[in-house]
Amino acid sequence: MSTMQATLPDDFFFGAALSGPQTEGAWQSGGKLENLWDRWSNLDLSAFHNRVGSYAGNDMTRKAAEDFETFASLGFSSARTSIQWSRLMDANGKVNPEGAAYYHRLFAAAREAGVEPFVNLYHFDLPAYLFDRGGWESREVVEAYAAYATAAFTEFGSEIEHWFTFNEPIVEPEMRYEHGAWYPFLTDFARARTVQYGISLAHALAVNSFRDLQARGVVRPDAQIGLINCFTPPYTKENPSPADLEAVRMTDGLCNRWWLDLVTKGTLPQDVIDTLAERGVELPTRPGDAEILAQGKVDWLGFNYYHPARVQAPEHGTDEHGNPVFAREYVWPDAVMNESRGWEIYPKGIYDFAKTMQRDYPDLEWFVSENGIGIEEDRAERDDAGRIMDASYRVPFVRDHLRWIAQAIEEGAKCRGYHYWGAIDCWSWNNAYKNRYGFVEVDLAHDYRRLPKQSSDWIRQVAKTHIVD
Ligand code: BG6
Repeated sequence: MSTMQATLPDDFFFGAALSGPQTEGAWQSGGKLENLWDRWSNLDLSAFHNRVGSYAGNDMTRKAAEDFETFASLGFSSARTSIQWSRLMDANGKVNPEGAAYYHRLFAAAREAGVEPFVNLYHFDLPAYLFDRGGWESREVVEAYAAYATAAFTEFGSEIEHWFTFNEPIVEPEMRYEHGAWYPFLTDFARARTVQYGISLAHALAVNSFRDLQARGVVRPDAQIGLINCFTPPYTKENPSPADLEAVRMTDGLCNRWWLDLVTKGTLPQDVIDTLAERGVELPTRPGDAEILAQGKVDWLGFNYYHPARVQAPEHGTDEHGNPVFAREYVWPDAVMNESRGWEIYPKGIYDFAKTMQRDYPDLEWFVSENGIGIEEDRAERDDAGRIMDASYRVPFVRDHLRWIAQAIEEGAKCRGYHYWGAIDCWSWNNAYKNRYGFVEVDLAHDYRRLPKQSSDWIRQVAKTHIVD
């Protein structure tokens, strides 16, 4: 790729990505129920960086108008956030009027500022009482999600054009059920796949409901529905062995093709299901499931990209818990790391994903729905005016990714836009406020005051001109 200036198409959009649980705070007001982040915070605040739990958000409940104005001033024409299931619905599965009013106000504030709200329905934030009823392993919860989605489409169907069922549906099975990293800290591969399967059904049921409500005029005719995932391309070493390639196949199969097949074909990849079965992992299928999954086809996709996956053959076929292991990490000697987050920086991955889409799913449009760099305390470097001096690392990160996007588009990729993650700093799960992503700082010591960082001037220029230099 040339390092020369790149230009993005005129109709390419720029925007911000955020989520309800990471921005709203106000977790005990307006009839909001406990979600799994609130529960974990309540059980063990010390698990969160500096003991900043889920209650923090970034105060967007009070600062929404200001934040959307900021996005507009940066040249952003859209912003994606999520509705919190635990705020919109009460424990009887009815719409909570205060929750509904909150989101009507939020979307109106976006529109007022000239920013199109993109709405996602789920961002790792299961209501705790539904976890107690079996979580995503339970069909009752899968159906409850479909009912919640139907309620959201009905409530906001005349307002919202861009809907998404899930953000990164691979992450909860992995983090909560497989890697033992997030509450409830399980290390059970088979249960993780049951959760993955339950979420897949839930997605398809929601899409089905969306289509039905659109046909009946409840959802606006120009509305579109999609899915967002971290479709991280898996790479392996040079001159790989057949076993290394097998590690790539299963990593790609579980994390990428599973969802891509679901949203383009309405099926799950048979080779992955067969390999799982050979290793004793059976999905809890029921008669009629294939018909449900067949409804899962979407109008477009969101691609969250931070880092590639690099894998190689595992040393052992099972782990200490008796789980099957299909791959282990491969550390590429040339990797450039973001040490704060432990993630490799590899901008070309965005282009490689574009190529995969062109080859395997050529009809589907997509956009980069998250990308960004979180640096610990933004190195605490400030200029005399008190602005965070982040341009030396944030600008090259974004610029290199945008250049690869421009290159892919030139070669025919159907990539329609770019949303930067956490354009205004927000709460990052158990890392809380350790790593900062924003073009705009949130000052926790001064009532969540917003302060533009040095990089905000650069992104404004790019978003307004579409010239990346
Ligand atoms: C994505 C999520 O995986 O990455 C966001 O959709 C998250 O919710 C973002 O905040 C950055 O990761 P982290 O863990 O540094 O906040």
